[in-house]
Amino acid sequence: MKLFVGKTVLVTGAQRGIGYDIAGAFAFQGASVVMTDVNGDGVQQAAASIEKETSAKTLALAADVSKYADCERVIEETLKTFKKLDILVNNAGITRDNLVLRMKEEDFQAVLDVNLKGAFLMAKAASRSMLRERGGRIINIASVVGQMGNAGQAGYSASKAGLIGLTKSLAREFAPRQVLVNAVAPGFIQTRMTDALKDETKAGLLEMIPLERFGTGADVARAVMFLAGDDSAYITGQVLAVNGGIYM
Ligand SMILES: NC(=O)c1ccc[n+]([C@@H]2O[C@H](COP(=O)([O-])OP(=O)(O)OC[C@H]3O[C@@H](n4cnc5c(N)ncnc54)[C@H](O)[C@@H]3O)[C@@H](O)[C@H]2O)c1
Repeated sequence: MKLFVGKTVLVTGAQRGIGYDIAGAFAFQGASVVMTDVNGDGVQQAAASIEKETSAKTLALAADVSKYADCERVIEETLKTFKKLDILVNNAGITRDNLVLRMKEEDFQAVLDVNLKGAFLMAKAASRSMLRERGGRIINIASVVGQMGNAGQAGYSASKAGLIGLTKSLAREFAPRQVLVNAVAPGFIQTRMTDALKDETKAGLLEMIPLERFGTGADVARAVMFLAGDDSAYITGQVLAVNGGIYM
C-alpha cells in the first residue's frame, strides 16, 4: 500500500540532488508533490520526469525561498491546485565555503538568507493553513556540520545550526495545533554539492565515516518520509541524523 495517497507535499530546492530524490520518493508513495526551485526551467523538467515515472500529480514553481512574496505565492498556488498542504520540506540550500579570513560578508549573508531565513519564510507562509487544519508536518534539511561545525564552512554551519534552533522553536509554537516540526541532519551525501570537494578531502571524509560510504539522496528521503508519516506522530522538535555515524 502506498503511504502518502491523498497527501500534498511541498519540497523546496527540488530541481536536483536531495530535494529531487525526496520529491520522487513521496511521488512513488502516492503523494501530490509541489516542487519549487530558483531554477524555473530545471524544476519544470524535474517535475515532468517524476510525473512520467510515477504518474503522481506534480506542480512545478519557480520561486526563491529567501523572498517572502515568492513563498506566499507558492503556498497560494499549492492551495489553489491541491486544496491543502500536509507536508513542507525545507530543502533549498546553498554553500559559499571559504576560510573565515577570506569569507566575504555578502557570502556569509547569502547563505543565511537561503538556508535559514528561507526556511523561516516558508514555514511562516505555510503555517496559516496548517494551523487552521490543525495538522501538518514541517521537515527542515539541516546538516551534520550544523551539529559539529566544520573548518571552511563558518557561514554554512551557522545557518544549519540556526535551522536546528528554528526547528525546535517552531515545534514548540505549533505543537498545540498538532503541527509537528523536525529536522533531518544529513552527513556527506553524494550530490553535486559534495562532488565539488577535492579528492583528498573526500578520501579523508570516508575514513571518518563508520559506515564507510557516503550517503545517498534515498537515505535522506527515507528519513524525511518517516518524519512525515504516521509512525512519527509523537515526535517533534527532534534532529534525525542521517550521517553514517560520522557524528554521534
Ligand atoms: N549534499 C550533502 O552532502 C548535504 C549534506 C547535508 C545537508 N545537505 C543539505 O541538503 C539540501 C540539498 O542539498 P543538495 O546536496 O541536494 O544541493 P544541490 O545544490 O544539488 O540542490 C539544492 C537546490 O536548491 C536550489 N536553490 C538554491 N537556492 C535557492 C533559493 N534561494 N530558493 C529556492 N531554491 C534554491 C538549487 O537551485 C538546487 O536545485 C541543502 O539544504 C543542503 O544544505 C546536503
